[in-house]
Amino acid sequence: MDQIKIKGGNPLLGEINVSGSKNSSLPILVSSLLTDNQMIISNVPELSDIKSMLNLLQSLNSEFIFSEHEINIKSNKPKRNFADYNLVRKMRASFLVLGPLLARYGNAEVSLPGGCAIGARPINMHLAGLEKLGAEFKIEGGYVKGKVQKGLIGSEINLPFSSVGATENILMAATLASGKTIIKNAAIEPEIENLGDCLIKMGADIRGLGTKRLEIFGKKKLNGCSFSVMPDRIEAGTYVLALLGCSGNLKINNLNKLIIENLKKCLGFFKNLKFEEINKHSLLIESEMLLLDGVSIKTGPFPNFPTDLQAQLTAVLSKSNGVSVIEETIFENRFMHVAELNRMGADINIKGSKVYINGKKKIFGAPVMATDLRASSSLVIAGLMAKGETLISRVYHLDRGYENLEKKLSNCNALIKRLKN
Ligand code: UD1
Repeated sequence: MDQIKIKGGNPLLGEINVSGSKNSSLPILVSSLLTDNQMIISNVPELSDIKSMLNLLQSLNSEFIFSEHEINIKSNKPKRNFADYNLVRKMRASFLVLGPLLARYGNAEVSLPGGCAIGARPINMHLAGLEKLGAEFKIEGGYVKGKVQKGLIGSEINLPFSSVGATENILMAATLASGKTIIKNAAIEPEIENLGDCLIKMGADIRGLGTKRLEIFGKKKLNGCSFSVMPDRIEAGTYVLALLGCSGNLKINNLNKLIIENLKKCLGFFKNLKFEEINKHSLLIESEMLLLDGVSIKTGPFPNFPTDLQAQLTAVLSKSNGVSVIEETIFENRFMHVAELNRMGADINIKGSKVYINGKKKIFGAPVMATDLRASSSLVIAGLMAKGETLISRVYHLDRGYENLEKKLSNCNALIKRLKN
């Protein structure tokens, strides 16, 4: 297993090109199951999660070529609409194949999902929404077995919580249901709008994208299309936080207006950070060499501070001038980075859904272990901020969601390298 070695203390100076969004690419790849035409999906990051999704789609009889961030994919009728445990357990987003398979073929067996160990992460809202469209489910032997009697029928679904995955699963299924579906309290993460834009390009009739009320007028058939995936706002935010922790200046490219606005909203209150918009796609960010003040922050659904940046922010605040409190409102068990950060000299306590960070003047390099995707990037940030050397093991977690992270950072003056094993 590869490791990452970091010698901390350097400011970050240079330019970073943000990759395409992982969380957009995954559902967009799944949407290829809704048509038997070719899809050409570009700006896809080369990540192990993308490869896991392609393996799953291949097991469902899809053919693809993946080269230079572009995926050419065509789905064919599977012999069996079966998503195997060994393919689904690696990544929770695999569960998104359920809605499209039911919509297209009327039956599906999909393993209960795995993914990052960051809480219970049930799939009840996915199932309840698809049931409203006429699907019937039983759960047997770790599999969700679903069938549809006479095709999915549009209906009104009120999500009890704006779940990203449930919104995507139901949205995709509804594009092929007969009649009108309304999803109330839909999630409004930009990745859902991106998926919706792709589905519209495939011929779907979707209204209200970007709002909490989606209306979908089902079609008999969808077509293929060419579609370019949006930039990865979590990757971008991770680099901004690394800069906040290390000081320096970075030009961050391949962004869009929504991401720039949201980065400013979520991180702009740090006095040390100065944002300068160069154009619609690039931001120049400067971070002064000042010890940060303590802050109080709560994660929340878009456009609030994303749970996917909570671990990275915790790392940054471990070196600061005061006490910070971060409340995690999306996942109940997303603090696995805390024990590792404390091994580096941080003083962080978990109380229920909050972490209390007693800022230290210095943190120190140490051997640490990555436990999930975003926890891994928080350890990278801590390593860059620390005095001395940090060795991170289990970096396969990082490879799920960050393309060429160590190259992007070493191009910006960081002393970071991958040790291949
Ligand atoms: C997606 C993102 C993930 C991000 C999360 C929240 C992808 C591939 N992953 O995950 O990076 O952290 O959104 O922004 O896009 N829940 C239920 N029942 C359900 C579904 C969800 O109780 O049926 C709960 C979950 O346990 C969790 C919360 O709702 O506590 C949010 O989950 P959800 O929005 O569905 O996240 P994911 O789609 O899994």
